Amino acid sequence: MSFWKDKKILITGHTGFKGSWLSLWLQSLGARVIGYALEPPTQPNLFQLVHVQDGMISIHGDVRHYQSLHNAFVDHAPEIVFHMAAQPLVRASYRDPLETYNTNVMGTANVLEAIRQIRCVKAAVIITTDKCYENKEWHWGYRENDRLGGFDPYSNSKACAELITASYRHSFFNPDRYAEHGVAVASVRAGNVIGGGDWAEDRLIPDLIRGFILKQPTLIRYPDAVRPWQHVLEPLFGYMILAEKMFTEGPALADAWNFGPYADDEKSVGWIADKMAQLWDNGVGWTRDGQQHPHEAGYLKLDWSRARQLLHWRPVWRLEDALIKIIEWYQTYQKQPEQLRTLTLAQIHEYQQKVMNG
Ligand SMILES: NC(=O)c1ccc[n+]([C@@H]2O[C@H](COP(=O)([O-])OP(=O)(O)OC[C@H]3O[C@@H](n4cnc5c(N)ncnc54)[C@H](O)[C@@H]3O)[C@@H](O)[C@H]2O)c1
Repeated sequence: MSFWKDKKILITGHTGFKGSWLSLWLQSLGARVIGYALEPPTQPNLFQLVHVQDGMISIHGDVRHYQSLHNAFVDHAPEIVFHMAAQPLVRASYRDPLETYNTNVMGTANVLEAIRQIRCVKAAVIITTDKCYENKEWHWGYRENDRLGGFDPYSNSKACAELITASYRHSFFNPDRYAEHGVAVASVRAGNVIGGGDWAEDRLIPDLIRGFILKQPTLIRYPDAVRPWQHVLEPLFGYMILAEKMFTEGPALADAWNFGPYADDEKSVGWIADKMAQLWDNGVGWTRDGQQHPHEAGYLKLDWSRARQLLHWRPVWRLEDALIKIIEWYQTYQKQPEQLRTLTLAQIHEYQQKVMNG
């Protein structure tokens, strides 16, 4: 963890759910964190509740605006970049596909172009998603070299972001010419990320928490859908290992990576909803939403053997542990919101201790 002390890190999307956790974690390790994003996407939000802004430089900016992004790179000369800013929701992408493509495709191209123009970044991690694969609804996990696709505009925009990243890597950050450019760029595909502090619409955990607080059963669209659930700290730790290795060892690992859970933690939506209701202590249950909804994948699994073998990454918390941490987080939000920063840092610390103790 000492690697991160005093490193200059730029995170796009730092006001979001994953970006807030990553910003706080890197701050706690002594990194100099610069964030570039729009306003937090929800109210309430983790960014404001745990005062993430206090330990970093937070720039209000749009990844669709190249010049403003370019200026942020010039002003702060980051050494490492995590690109997370996105329109990350499937159903929102059906409502507004153009905005999704503009943000997720051109936003990614703008970040890569800024890295190309400003010669200070040594390692960049571009965050896409498990949904970037052509989903065949089969029971095997997708591997990094499986075909990209994406049915809905969100998933497809992330497949496009993968292709752009690969093109920039081949054309401008080619590992064979690393001595000339000095940049290593990877893309990462994590599963369905869960954790305290998410209030996004149409995501299972925030929907369930809203139901528990209001004491109303949650309407669930696809209770039988299976997803690779993982606590938010799991993929973030994978991204950090990857960035560190590319920074210190060069471009050998500059490629696409999956980060998923153990196979027996790939559970159905209904299973998670039942478990959460049980852990909440008399949490109101859920009912099947009988309405017609746009297509969403039924079955999605990730094969992360490569990350295990080459990065020595593996999940640290099992799904049930992750659900307990989540309940602890939202119950603190309900009863003692002023304690949330301490709790969030304590969860990060606990995760880190478990990593270090093997
Ligand atoms: N949460 C998950 O389950 C999950 C799973 C796989 C991949 N991802 C990916 O991880 C990343 C972070 O997801 P999240 O769950 O934290 O999302 P989020 O909605 O909580 O955060 C999105 C962030 O992007 C910023 N943003 C959106 N449009 C922007 C724009 N035009 N310019 C600048 N900033 C903009 C928002 O302000 C926010 O900071 C996304 O790339 C998402 O696709 C998330």
